[in-house]
Amino acid sequence: MPVVRGKNIEILFSASAIARRSLELAKDIAARDYKDLLVISILKGSFIFAADLIRAMHDAGISPEVEFIFISSYGAGTTAGEVRVLRDIDNDVTGRDILLIDDILESGNTLKYTRDLMLSRGASNVDIAVLLDKRMRRKADIEPDFVGFDCPDHFVVGYGMDVAHAFRELPFVGIVKGDA
Ligand code: IMP
Ligand code: MG
Repeated sequence: MPVVRGKNIEILFSASAIARRSLELAKDIAARDYKDLLVISILKGSFIFAADLIRAMHDAGISPEVEFIFISSYGAGTTAGEVRVLRDIDNDVTGRDILLIDDILESGNTLKYTRDLMLSRGASNVDIAVLLDKRMRRKADIEPDFVGFDCPDHFVVGYGMDVAHAFRELPFVGIVKGDA
């Protein structure tokens, strides 16, 4: 078991498994025939997944425009979770096909808020790609269009995801198991 910051980390999804799955997702995305696709990476958690997925999309023959939105959710996992935009995209999304990329879909509050925001601005279609889906935690009425892996009901870290600002740099997704 890898030890990082003095903690044992159990690997749930390895770097190679994620890389293989990203290629498959990119092919599924390419098969949708989006027009003039705008990809929006939801910060902070999606930055590594988005970076790998858009390069896999390039290999699958898609040339998207790429944007970033910084969303914070307080009380994530609850129906009352308050979602705010901390840094917005720069683009006019009117009439655009959009693909939102996030690390993990849990209550769904973050992605429902972000999708509704883009639709209210006139986007013609807003689809969702997530690396992980914790479907047993869903509160909002939202389903992802592209999912890397179903995620067990554990708090996970790595590949962009943090606990208290730590572990984003791990090349795999894992569970913190306690002191090494
Ligand atoms: P939701 O709004 O409840 O769907 O929460 C989604 C956001 O919460 C994700 O974008 C992550 O940033 C964060 N999150 C949810 N579960 C986990 C986890 O297990 N590890 C790290 N971050 C998580
Ligand atoms: Mg997030």
